[in-house]
Amino acid sequence: MVRTLKCMLLTGLFSLFMGSLVAQEIVINYDESKIPAYELPDLLTLNNGQQVKNAVQWTEERRAEILEIFAQEMYGHIPARPAGLHFKQMSEEVVYNGLGLRKVVRIYLDEAEQHWFDVLIHLPKNAKKPVPMFAGLNFKGNDATLDERAGSRWPYELILKEGFGVATAWRDAIEPDGKDSKIEEAVSVCKDGGVRAWYNPGGDWGAISAWAWGLSCIYDYLAIDKAVDASRIAVIGHSRLGKTSLWAGANDTRFAMVVSNCSGCCGAAISRRVIGENFARIATSFPHWFTRAFDKYMNKEADFPADQHSLVALAAPRPLYIASATEDLWADPKGEWLAAVEVAPIYKLFGKTGVKSIYPAPDSPDMDGTVAYHVRTGKHDITAYDWQQYLDFAQKHGWGK
Ligand code: GCU
Repeated sequence: MVRTLKCMLLTGLFSLFMGSLVAQEIVINYDESKIPAYELPDLLTLNNGQQVKNAVQWTEERRAEILEIFAQEMYGHIPARPAGLHFKQMSEEVVYNGLGLRKVVRIYLDEAEQHWFDVLIHLPKNAKKPVPMFAGLNFKGNDATLDERAGSRWPYELILKEGFGVATAWRDAIEPDGKDSKIEEAVSVCKDGGVRAWYNPGGDWGAISAWAWGLSCIYDYLAIDKAVDASRIAVIGHSRLGKTSLWAGANDTRFAMVVSNCSGCCGAAISRRVIGENFARIATSFPHWFTRAFDKYMNKEADFPADQHSLVALAAPRPLYIASATEDLWADPKGEWLAAVEVAPIYKLFGKTGVKSIYPAPDSPDMDGTVAYHVRTGKHDITAYDWQQYLDFAQKHGWGK
């Protein structure tokens, strides 16, 4: 007994020591002059060394290679949707003085209706034709988005007035976000520990892949809702959910537009810049977001066989919007913009243009091309200002009223 205790104590001390060693090794750089010299993997060179010459070759060959790199080495593979997927509308009410309809649709993941999550949907009430939509996950629960409306994260009235609908689900109702998750409040899928534990147990997919899978389930519902224009559904997300939005848009090309708001490390930001959050830090703080294969890249950004511009390029040729905030140095705004710049050759294959080659001034969106970017003055957040740009951008592409 004493021996076991001693052993436990020693093991505890050892892991504490190792823990602090690991923590010490993670250096965070905020100095542009200390960015290591780097070369980005070429988007247009196939794994066999040949050059991609046209849009068909990109779509049929190179795109699949890049998708597989991210599935294999960063987020994990996303399984197919379950055979038992079906939907039930739980409620409907008129809101905002007749401006909108609010409904809750339950996404059942099995025939037996044991596993499900709820989607909160707002639609313009008096639309004359099926409406374009934004679909994105939220951090705190569907009901919380109603309160966050005032804080502008989910500016429902603004979106409805512009003629768009919006659908959201709580990320933790699909897959809990690690130890901080309010899992006990999630009564659905999470009673079995999240979708990864229940569906495809043992599959090596991180939470970001699970959330992206959930977004595709939401699309499956929206596609059969007669009030929705299924050819105009944008996937959107902020921060960790912005990483998710890029990954969902990469895998599920039914999303006709992709929006990444302050997605940062393992989102839109170029990893090889190693400024702000880096691989070692993200893989240590949020290991559950990734496949275990990702761990080997801690402190080795340059060894990753792609960079985040490669992920961003998977949105092509669809309209793509990347946004940052001036004070969000953790997410590396400049690196997010550089990814937007780097994908221009891919859009060019489709006869489309990217962003300009000059970093835009704060609050001066660059949205003349099929790729758009802005850096908003302020903190890490998604605000009504950001939403207004996404709505304007979608309208430029013929969406909306
Ligand atoms: C942390 C994390 C980021 C993430 C952010 C968020 O800051 O380090 O990678 O984007 O949380 O989701 O708010």
